[in-house]
Parts: sequence; structure tokens; C-alpha cells
Amino acid sequence: MITENAPAKINLALHVRARRADGYHELETLFAFVADGDTVTLAPGPLSLTVIGPFSAGLSGEGDNLVLRAARAFAATFGVAESGAFTLDKHLPVASGIGGGSADAAAALRALARANQVALDDPRLFEIAAALGSDVPACLLGRTALGRGRGEQLAPLDGPVGLPVLLVNPGVAVSTAAVFKAWDGIDKGPMPDGDVLSLALAGRNDLEAPARRLAPVIDHVLTLLAAGNPILARMSGSGATCFALYASMDDRTAAAARIRAAQTGWWCLETRLA
Ligand code: C5P
Repeated sequence: MITENAPAKINLALHVRARRADGYHELETLFAFVADGDTVTLAPGPLSLTVIGPFSAGLSGEGDNLVLRAARAFAATFGVAESGAFTLDKHLPVASGIGGGSADAAAALRALARANQVALDDPRLFEIAAALGSDVPACLLGRTALGRGRGEQLAPLDGPVGLPVLLVNPGVAVSTAAVFKAWDGIDKGPMPDGDVLSLALAGRNDLEAPARRLAPVIDHVLTLLAAGNPILARMSGSGATCFALYASMDDRTAAAARIRAAQTGWWCLETRLA
């Protein structure tokens, strides 16, 4: 049995630069990962997927999970039989801007690569990942990186490992396609140069404004996060999950306690940058 972590991704910054003719958008985005997320295990057997964990119900109506699509693409590319009994332990909220499904697909590809003696940096794995979704290559790389194109052209960076992070989701699923569609079409400029933290601080998430129009509760999340002395509070991806970075664990613990007390139904994860 092989176990792979599928950590949450956050976009420390996400600059939307242009609409493309293929329906996607040209991005510059600063990907980072946290220490916690879903877990994918692979056991021998015919191809199957069992979903367990606190957010398993969010995937119950889904016939074609990204884990199964990843496994079929792996088999076709590497000329092996479609197989593997996958268990997905779902701890990340679904459709929430922190790459849960992408992280699961990337973890499935890593597990299959290990089971079949394929190197984890094999370019064919990254081609499969890019075909599965724009964030899957970043999740396969699994480390801080600048992403361009759809997000699949990756340049690794050294990030501030260990920095305390709080993730907050108000329980509203947001469609990535709908948020991109609601972008105002105005290029607000490139990512500046600098180290990861200064890039994040100087950057923006251009999807925040359209996501806030579609899901106004995001305003409330960001207001509560901003009140808790963060280094930075911002929405991740297309939302609705927002993150805050803190100078100390104490600041993070205090902020999480305040938000949990005020909003008992919201999802809060206290973690740190990986
Ligand atoms: O690539 P993925 O399937 O995750 O993207 C979901 C949707 O998000 C796309 O269908 C597209 O509408 C939008 N998208 C985009 N530009 C990107 C990434 C995603 O417009 N760079």
C-alpha cells in the first residue's frame, strides 16, 4: 500500500493578465502549499475509488473523480493495465480555491509513479497533470513556484517554510469557470520581482473582486481575517477559501479562536507553509 499526501494549495498572488482564445486565461500566480490536506492511498486491485473523511459527501454525486481520470491517463500513457484500489480521505472543502481535487489527482499520479518505478520528475507525468487541470502540475511539483500560462508553466522558488497560516472557508462552493468569466478583462500589471514574501505582499488576487460579487460572504471572511493582525490576508484561487499569514503561532491561534467563536459553521484550518 502506498500513501501520498495531497496538501492544500494556496495562491499567494494571482494576476490575471489576459483572456485567451482557447477559453482559458493567461496567469501569473505564486503557488504555495501548506502542511495539511487530503490523503490518497493506493492498494493493489482493480481500478476503484472509495472516498472517506469529513468532506466525502461533497463528492458523492461525482461519477468521474479526478483520481480515477488520473489513473486512466497514467495507464494509457505508460502502457500499463488500468488498476489500483484508491482511497481518498477528504479533509479539504470541495470547489473552494485551494486545489483539493487537483492535489488528489497529483497524489494519485505520484502513487502510481512509485508503484510503477516511474521517476517523479518524468515529463510525461506533468503532461498528464496539465491535461487534467490547470493546477494539477503545480500540485504534482508540490512546492512553492511561480506559475505562468494557464498555471502549468512552473518555476520553483524558495518560500518561507513554516510560516503560520490560517485557511477559512464560509461553506459556499464557487465555480472557477464562473469567477474567471466575471473577471473585468483589465490587466492590472505583472508580478513584481523579489523574494516570495515580498512578491506576495506586493501582489494581488485579481479573482477576488469577481468572486466577491458572486459570493458576497467572502467580504465577511476577509474582514474577519484582516482584524486578526495578519501579515497578509487574501482569497486563494477562485475562492471562496481565504488565507492569512502570521508572524507567530500565537497570532494564528488567537485569530482562529475568534473566527471559530463568531462563525461556528465555517471551516478553519490552522496550518503552516510547507
Ligand atoms: O483547468 P481547470 O479545469 O482547472 O479550469 C477550470 C475552469 O477555470 C476552466 O474551464 C476555465 O473556465 C477557468 N480557467 C481559466 N484560466 C485558467 C485556469 C482556469 O479561465 N488559467
